[in-house]
Amino acid sequence: MSETLKKIKRIGVITSGGDCSGMNPCIRSVVRTSISKGIKVFGFKRGYQGILDNDFLTLDSNHSVSNILQRGGTFLQSARCLAFKTDEGLKKGLDNLIDLELDGLIVIGGDGSLTGAHKIHLAGFPTIGVPASIDNDLYGTSMSLGVDTALNAIMNSVDTIRDTASSHERAFIIEVMGRNCGYLALTSAIASGAEAAIIPEVPYDLDRISRSLVRRFKEGKTNSIIILAEGAGSAKEFGQKIREKTGIEIRETVLGHIQRGGSPTSFDRIFASKLGRNAVIALEEGKSGEMIALKDDKYVTVPLDLVLSKQRPLSPQLLDLAVLLES
Ligand code: ADP
Ligand code: F6P
Repeated sequence: MSETLKKIKRIGVITSGGDCSGMNPCIRSVVRTSISKGIKVFGFKRGYQGILDNDFLTLDSNHSVSNILQRGGTFLQSARCLAFKTDEGLKKGLDNLIDLELDGLIVIGGDGSLTGAHKIHLAGFPTIGVPASIDNDLYGTSMSLGVDTALNAIMNSVDTIRDTASSHERAFIIEVMGRNCGYLALTSAIASGAEAAIIPEVPYDLDRISRSLVRRFKEGKTNSIIILAEGAGSAKEFGQKIREKTGIEIRETVLGHIQRGGSPTSFDRIFASKLGRNAVIALEEGKSGEMIALKDDKYVTVPLDLVLSKQRPLSPQLLDLAVLLES
C-alpha cells in the first residue's frame, strides 16, 4: 500500500433516492474492493433511513454480494428519507456513523442523495458520492449509473410500439422520464429513430411538428413516434394538441417505471464496477466531499459543491444530431 493511502478499516454504503439498474453491481464492487484491502463494509438498508435506524447488513465476505450483479434495483433497497433533511436527522445520522466507528461513507444516488452526502462531509465525516440516476442530470460527469440500461429499455419499448403504430397508421407520443433533463428523451429519439424529441431545455414549435407529421403521412410513412421528456409536459396534453392541429390518429404511452428496472446492461455493470472501486480508493486517499465522475474516458473526482451548484448542459452535438436525423 502506498504511503499516501489512509488506513481505513470500516466504511458504510447506501443506495438512496430514485433507484436505478447498476446499483447492485456498484455495491458488489465496493464490497469486493474493500475486502481485498481488509476493509469491512456496512450496507445500510433504505438509504439514509437505515443510517437513522441503525439498520444495516455486514457485508464482510465476497459471498455476501454474490448473485446480484445481474439484478436491477438495489438489494440494500432505497428510500426517500425526509427526516434526514432536518438538522436533527443529520445529527442523529452522524452520531450513528461515529458510534459504529466507521471511517467513511459511500453514497450511491442522484442529486438529492448527493446533497445529503455533501452535508455529512461538511459536518466532518469522510463521504464520497457515486452518480446514479437514470435522468443523467448530474453536473461534472458525462454519464451517471443506470442511464444506459434505461435508454435500452426505452429503445426496446419504442421498437415494440412502432409495430402496432405501423399497422394502424398512428402517431404515438411516448413519455419518458427526466424531471428537468431531456437527455433520455433526446438519446432515445436518436437510438429509436423517432421523428422528434420534446425536451425541457428547448421550447418546441407545435405548428412545425404538426406540419411535418402531416407531410410524412402524406409521403407514405405508416407511423410516427414523438418522444416527450416528462419535464417538458404530459403525453396526454401534448397528444391532444397534436390531435387537434392535425386530425391524425394519436395514441399516448407513458413508459413510467419500466425504465427504472431490469437487468443492467454490460455498460452499466462495468461502469458500476469501476465507480465502486474508485469510490473506495477515494476514501483511502483521504478524499471527502467528492463525487466519482467519468470525464474524457477517465475516472476523476469532482467536488460535490461544484456538482450540486451547476446544471448539466445538454450537448449541442447531440441536439444537432437529433435534428439532422429527423425525417
Ligand atoms: P435522488 O437522490 O434520486 O435525487 P431525492 O431527491 O429524493 O432522490 O433524494 C434522496 C434522499 O436524499 C432524500 O430522501 C433525503 O433522504 C436525502 N436528501 C435529499 N435532499 C437532501 C438535503 N437537502 N439534505 C439532506 N438530505 C437530503
Ligand atoms: O430521478 C429519477 C426519476 O426517475 C425521475 O425521472 C422521475 O421523475 C422520478 O425519478 C420518479 O421517481 P419516483 O416515482 O420514485 O418518485
